[in-house]
Amino acid sequence: MRTLKPQDARRIETLLERMTLTEKLGQLTMMSASHSVTGPVITGHSTGDIRSGRIGNLLNLIGAGAAREMQRIAVEESRLGVPLLIGLDVIHGHRTIFPPPLAETALFDPVAWALTAREAAREAAADGINMTFAPMLDVSREPRWGRTVEGPGESPWVGRVLAEAKVRGFQGTDLTAGDSIAAVAKHFCAYGAVTAGREYASVDISERTLLEVHMPPFAAAVSAGVVAVMPAFTDLAGIPMTAHAGMLRGRLRRELGFEGVLISDYNAVAELIQHGVAADLIEAATLALRAGVDIDMVSGAYLEGLPAALERGLVSHAQIDESVLRVLALKARLGLFEDPYRRGATPESAAALAERRRLARDVGTRSIVLLTNRDDALPLAGALRRVALIGPLGDAAAEMRGPWWCAAPPDAQVSVLAGMRAALPHAEILHASGVDIAGADERGIAAAVQLCDRAEAVVLCLGEAATMSGEAASRAHPGLPGRQRQLAEAVLQRAAARAIPVIAVLFCGRPLMVPWLAERASALLAAWFPGCEAGHALADLLTGRISPSGRTPITWPRAVGQIPLYFGQRSGGRPTDPSGPFSSRYIDESNAPLFPFGHGLTYGHFALSRLRVTPESAAPSATVSVLVDVENQGRRRGEETVFLFTRRLKSRVAPPTLELHAFGKITLDPGARATLTLRLPLAQLSSLGPDLEPALESGTVEILAGPSADLASLLTVRLQVVA
Ligand code: BGC
Repeated sequence: MRTLKPQDARRIETLLERMTLTEKLGQLTMMSASHSVTGPVITGHSTGDIRSGRIGNLLNLIGAGAAREMQRIAVEESRLGVPLLIGLDVIHGHRTIFPPPLAETALFDPVAWALTAREAAREAAADGINMTFAPMLDVSREPRWGRTVEGPGESPWVGRVLAEAKVRGFQGTDLTAGDSIAAVAKHFCAYGAVTAGREYASVDISERTLLEVHMPPFAAAVSAGVVAVMPAFTDLAGIPMTAHAGMLRGRLRRELGFEGVLISDYNAVAELIQHGVAADLIEAATLALRAGVDIDMVSGAYLEGLPAALERGLVSHAQIDESVLRVLALKARLGLFEDPYRRGATPESAAALAERRRLARDVGTRSIVLLTNRDDALPLAGALRRVALIGPLGDAAAEMRGPWWCAAPPDAQVSVLAGMRAALPHAEILHASGVDIAGADERGIAAAVQLCDRAEAVVLCLGEAATMSGEAASRAHPGLPGRQRQLAEAVLQRAAARAIPVIAVLFCGRPLMVPWLAERASALLAAWFPGCEAGHALADLLTGRISPSGRTPITWPRAVGQIPLYFGQRSGGRPTDPSGPFSSRYIDESNAPLFPFGHGLTYGHFALSRLRVTPESAAPSATVSVLVDVENQGRRRGEETVFLFTRRLKSRVAPPTLELHAFGKITLDPGARATLTLRLPLAQLSSLGPDLEPALESGTVEILAGPSADLASLLTVRLQVVA
């Protein structure tokens, strides 16, 4: 409440005094509207419930007209005229779809991260939306988990930087502005650690892992001023997050200082019954409210259960009022009392939309990771006359949207086929899907393979459908679905016989375990889901118009059995030794990933040298500079990304092998050389001691810098921390 203007504080206090219990519970309720042909329908309810004050907030409402009408009913026809929060999952764009968060993370560019959020906020706000259920900040080291695609990947540090950028982007500098929307950091906390990567499953991790890995992005979001947080569906060691007072009131509110609104996940309050911790809606509502959840999303438990809970003395009026005040404060901070129609008042100009699509193309291009490029198979030669575009993702415009597409129509995306035809107007693009994404029909393979005989190069578009990652999309076999491997093998064989290159492109929301493809394709790209400009973005890279610069934000395993595989693992007392039997390794698979965190090639060839740190000895409060020389030894211009890791040589708690602390980028012409400087505030090296208290120990710290987390690729220098 500290952030409220005095007149707003008075306004909401007065409102609260005038509210009936039903009106209060309405403010603590968010119901789903689904847009139908004739207009919005509120699932199981009517607009009369807005009029009566029983519903104070909505989600899933699309279209400025519909939003305005619902807002009008709330403001002009309900007794107290309290405006609605209108929320939507604007995760990676609203009408203009950007790559999903995991793909966008591959840019390692906080400016771009903030910019796409800003543009998504503008577009959503123009549709009357005032809240997005984003950013999703769940660190994931679990490619089986479909929601990995929605988050920042495996690094808590990256999660922190992304959280800060996204909150800034969505909320802007002035939350009352007509193009700013409330951000909801989700899903608090450790959802990414679901057992065996299985969606909605239990989470059971150490307190250290919780604090070291999963909480930092949320801490960063809170510091950046995020106004709302959503607890995860999952339980943490048996306590569902929706009822976890220790996490919500304790860690989030008391320790991190979060003062905003806690909004439950979809139906999560009622699901406390299914979790087995509540007998009915009364108990479920009691547990959630006591834990500090302010808004019940769609379950109706607060509306139905809290009156009885009050009567039985399970909750108090003061507890309800506390939550109502928080919701009203958020509405005030959004400027909704001053002008409930500010968002959605002005349609966006065609120029703004065109500019946004340009941004989508730029970000789409930069999100794609070039994983392998044998003998510089890419970029494609300019004089190609015939290219075979094969695979079920080659002409699949709608799939390019990825897991959350809000208001984007399926045909508003550019397919690879369309993008290739536009980029290579003088070449013939021969196209065949060969197989469906997930079907069992192999009859199209032969005809697809025949295209190789007429082509000078093959672009093989494989991977997942958009709905195969995201929520409720865990996979036990995260490889190519359906008969795609059969198609790929047949194409690789025919292309090899004809000595033409096969450029394999993976569309996916997670690392796909395809070592066989990585070994045999001439080049392999992780395109993820590049968004609305997918085809143009990919063609920009394939033709060499732009040099690839994306880096994988998650370690790419070779086999499911290696999961979880991430760069921050501790070495143990018998570290991996491929030649020694009694070391931490598999007898039937290498420990090495298929591609390490940070891996990604460019069309330049970069060499790093002369890593140095200055000063070489410093106090914990100091910031040191880490310098490294970068030279482009290749024949094309390119952008190199350099990661700065540290390794503590000795610590009271066994240190992770690598900890990421910074990244930087540099673009160089062929033959050019420059020095990249990264700043390292030593306070960042603080770690949790045996008592879980943060401390920065004196001693030697190795600073490692390089193009990925592959130890062999890193340069090392030592720094003395003198406490
Ligand atoms: C998801 C959330 C989302 C909510 C509202 C839930 O199923 O877990 O991430 O924000 O639905 O659509």
